[in-house]
Amino acid sequence: MKPHPRSLLGTDHLTVPEIEAILKLARRMDPKRAPQLLRGKRVVLLFYEPSTRTRTSFEFAMTTLITATSSSIEKGESLIDTGWTVTSLGADAIVMRHPSSGAPYLLSRFIPVPIVNAGDGLHQHPSQALLDALTITNHKKRLKGLRVVIVGDIFHSRVARSNAHLLSKCGAEVILCGPPDLAPDVAETLAPGITVCHDLDVALLGADVVMSLRIQKERLAGKQISLEDYIAQFQVTPQRMRLARPDAIVMHPGPIVRGLEIANEVADGPQSCVHEQVANGVKTRMAILATVLKAVQ
Ligand code: CP
Repeated sequence: MKPHPRSLLGTDHLTVPEIEAILKLARRMDPKRAPQLLRGKRVVLLFYEPSTRTRTSFEFAMTTLITATSSSIEKGESLIDTGWTVTSLGADAIVMRHPSSGAPYLLSRFIPVPIVNAGDGLHQHPSQALLDALTITNHKKRLKGLRVVIVGDIFHSRVARSNAHLLSKCGAEVILCGPPDLAPDVAETLAPGITVCHDLDVALLGADVVMSLRIQKERLAGKQISLEDYIAQFQVTPQRMRLARPDAIVMHPGPIVRGLEIANEVADGPQSCVHEQVANGVKTRMAILATVLKAVQ
C-alpha cells in the first residue's frame, strides 16, 4: 500500500507551497482553543518514546484524542497490529513518535489513514521544523536569504535534518556546525544550500538565526572531543553571539542543557525565542492536523 497522500512523514517531501500553506494556517490558529474545524475528528497518539513539548502540543491541538501508549504498546503488540487496531476503532489520523528511524514510513504502508511523524529515531521531526519556520518568519518575515546556523550534535538530530531540508528548500543558507564526530562533512549532501563548518566563530559571522541543539553527554563517550572542549569550542555564549547579526535570534528545540550547549545568559536573553517556539508548537500542530485531516476551509 502507498502512504496516505496527506501523511506528514518528513520535510524532504514537502513542497514550498505546502510549507507556506501550513504556516499561513498556523498564523490564523488560536492556541487557547482547539479549532472548530477539528471537532469530531479522532486522532490517536502513538508515542513509543518520551516527549513533553511535541506530545502536549498535539494534545492541546485536538478536541478528540486517544492515547494508546499504556495499552497495546506495553503488552507487546506489533506496530502494524496496533496501527490496524486504532484504525479499526475509527481513528481519522495517527500521530506517532518512535525511537526507530523509518517506523512511521513503515506503518504508513499498511494503514489507510494519514500519519503525522512526531519524531522517528535520528531521521525526521517535521512538525518541529514547521514550528521553527513559523517562529523564524515571525521575526524575519521570510526564510529566503537568511543565514541559519544549526550547532550541536547534528549526526543524532532529527530536528537538524528536518530543519536543514525545510530551510534550504525555502532559500535559506544552512550551516551545520559541530565537531567532526557530531557534524560529519557528508551532511552537506542532505540538500543543496547546506554547508558543514567545524568552527562556530566562523559559522556565526553574520548569522540571522542561531539554533542550538541538545548535547547528550553519553554520546560524547569515545569521541575525539571531550565535554570540556565541546563547551569551550561550541557553546553558544554572549561573546560568540556578538559575531552574529545584532538582530539575530536564538532558538533551541528543547530539552535544553544549560551550561553545556548554551549559556544561561543566551537562553534567557533578549534574543532567545525558546519559549515562543514551544508556544508556536500548538498553533503549528493545529494547522498540521487540519491539513492532514483535510479540515481546512
Ligand atoms: N523538541 C521536542 O521534540 O521535544 P519533546 O521531545 O519534548 O517532544
